[in-house]
Amino acid sequence: MRHYLITVTLSALLMVGVSGCSNSSPKEATQSQGQTENAQPSATTKAVSEIDTTGISSPDGKTVVTLTARNGQLRYGVKRGDEEVLRPSRLGLRFLEGQGFDEDLIITNVATASRDEIWEQPWGEQRVMRDDHNETALTVQSKGSGQVMVVRVRAFDDGIGFRYEVGRQEGLTNVTITDEITGFNIDPQSTAWWIPSRKYNRYEYLYRKTPVVDMPIVHTPVTIVADTGTHISIHEAALVNYSGMSLEQNRDGDLEADLAPRPEGHKVVLQTPFVTPWRTIQISDDAKGLVNSSLILNLNEPNKLGDTSYFKPGKYAGIWWHQHIREVTWGSDVIHGATTERTKRLMDFAAKYDFDGVLVEGWNIGWDGDWFNNGDVFSFTETYPDFDIEAVSAYGKQIGVQLIGHHETSGNLTNYETQLEDALDLYQSTGMSVIKSGYVADGGDLKWIGDDGVARYGFHDGQRAVEHHLHVVKRAHEHGIAMNPHEPVKDTGLRRTYPNWVSREGARGQEFNAWGIPPNGPNHVPNLIFTRMLSGPMDYTPGAFNLRPNELPDVHPDLPRNDPRSRIEHTLAKELSLYVMIYSPIQMVMDLPEHYEARRDAFQFIVDVPADWERSVALDGAVGEFAVIARQERGGADWYLGALTNETAREVDIDLRFLGEGEFEAQIYRDGPEADYETNPYDLVITSQRVTQTDQLSFNLGRSGGVAIRFKKL
Ligand code: NOJ
Ligand code: CA
Repeated sequence: MRHYLITVTLSALLMVGVSGCSNSSPKEATQSQGQTENAQPSATTKAVSEIDTTGISSPDGKTVVTLTARNGQLRYGVKRGDEEVLRPSRLGLRFLEGQGFDEDLIITNVATASRDEIWEQPWGEQRVMRDDHNETALTVQSKGSGQVMVVRVRAFDDGIGFRYEVGRQEGLTNVTITDEITGFNIDPQSTAWWIPSRKYNRYEYLYRKTPVVDMPIVHTPVTIVADTGTHISIHEAALVNYSGMSLEQNRDGDLEADLAPRPEGHKVVLQTPFVTPWRTIQISDDAKGLVNSSLILNLNEPNKLGDTSYFKPGKYAGIWWHQHIREVTWGSDVIHGATTERTKRLMDFAAKYDFDGVLVEGWNIGWDGDWFNNGDVFSFTETYPDFDIEAVSAYGKQIGVQLIGHHETSGNLTNYETQLEDALDLYQSTGMSVIKSGYVADGGDLKWIGDDGVARYGFHDGQRAVEHHLHVVKRAHEHGIAMNPHEPVKDTGLRRTYPNWVSREGARGQEFNAWGIPPNGPNHVPNLIFTRMLSGPMDYTPGAFNLRPNELPDVHPDLPRNDPRSRIEHTLAKELSLYVMIYSPIQMVMDLPEHYEARRDAFQFIVDVPADWERSVALDGAVGEFAVIARQERGGADWYLGALTNETAREVDIDLRFLGEGEFEAQIYRDGPEADYETNPYDLVITSQRVTQTDQLSFNLGRSGGVAIRFKKL
């Protein structure tokens, strides 16, 4: 299936002038030279004198990237048809040592290539993936130093990606990046959906919708809609050995990469040869196109771990919500939650409904006292006396339910790293294959001890954190274990390369509905779907059946419930739809068993819905307002569909063409006529009807309502 074409432009003349970017599609103009992942200009490439302008277009010809080097400055701009999506924006890196690659630059060579390749995900929202792109690699020289770097640009039908590549060369061995000057120059009046960066709560903020000009420094992915309706998402792919990129606004609309600083203030320290993460811009005519894009995964490297079949997608219950709504405690101070007894009961519940695992939080020594600020004292091998890890895992084995591990670090990387092997050994010996980890610490307060024995502090997306996560993922793989970090570094598609990095948090999840003021609110999930979810799976932990848990009576005088303003501002049907709307290969069934047993009818949807998909398609939506997504079960013929809305009630019309051949029984869980997240969230109607692909369905979603459907193939 692999098909890779490389061409080297031999004459500067061909490329000079704007027409150079569109006068020929590389596919037509090239000769095959076999596969090459790193199309570095080779010996066959003739170094040419200065090239002023060059470019590249997407396979469908719609998106054109133009690259220029004028007055020593390198810029790129992006057009889609006649529309200027990105105005000319700077490219470059500043180094502490030598001249770097920000000024005084010339393009000395251009090599083009293209690829159209099919690849498969071992698990995912889509099994078969297509990577179809054109590529151009510019050799850029610093006139003063003679040093060179390559800027590699790939254009896909769903957007573009580019990165910097710096080879080993004289005077460039150890490199300190003081600044990356990559710009994203857009119309300041476009509408943006964003969360702030470098704040204490990491990625856990409600999304704001403002004109671009009103954005502070923001995290990516950030979603921006132009007044023409063109949607873009700016993010990055393959964040390895580098610092995470936020975006700062220099002048109105002139966004610039702002890398998370290291403790000493520089951005990245590394050695040549290196490549930076890809800077990505997904481009679509509409909101659903962003969700259907596979650009981020296509820009990541293929699987480097080999067999990760120890990880199986699935659903899990847990001793988790119990702590958040103050039924029990993590520590042993009031009512210790993680007991052998309670775990076995939850395992019985999981086995009864064929769920795969049970997460247990608070099983290990270190939770007593102020665990938020206590990362130094966590043990990852010592259990509380009332939790018998051997007994529960043996019990789980008997009834076919796995223990899911939990490692809360409270942001102390060194304390975790020094215990990691022992911790993984212990969990591996129980037969466990997934660990949820946690990095509860304020932004900028991740802690580690340097080689000199002195404590350092950094951001959750700084270079040290990036290295830490990959280290843990690789070590976990050696133990046959998959990772699901909370308070993580953001996702940049590394699950393709490291398929045991299965999910993560990295946004406000369900927990905020237990104690957050305000809670997540009606438009949070419609925001997430078109922002955070573009980066990869999220362990949101859906499935609340008691939507007002803080109105339950206290279970202990020393454990009063949280403020009742914290609650789930969804209808029950919307909560069910989350299993389709928010993709994760491990989905929590987060509420207490008794709340599910009380609504056995509605619970059936959660029992049925899978966590692994053959294909997924976003059918409709508007950022922050509503979304409709359909997914086909992997290894089965059934389809599932979810739709949800923000605080506005609306009708959604669904064309069933996606079903393909055959007849289906549509088992529908929809908002009833009175459904409203404030006044009647439990008004749910469950019906069933026969449908085929020629049918249309139409639903009235209540305020913050939804619908969840299983299409069972007949
Ligand atoms: C924050 C995580 O997001 C949550 O799921 C977990 O229960 C707590 N930390 C404790 O580790
Ligand atoms: Ca969290």
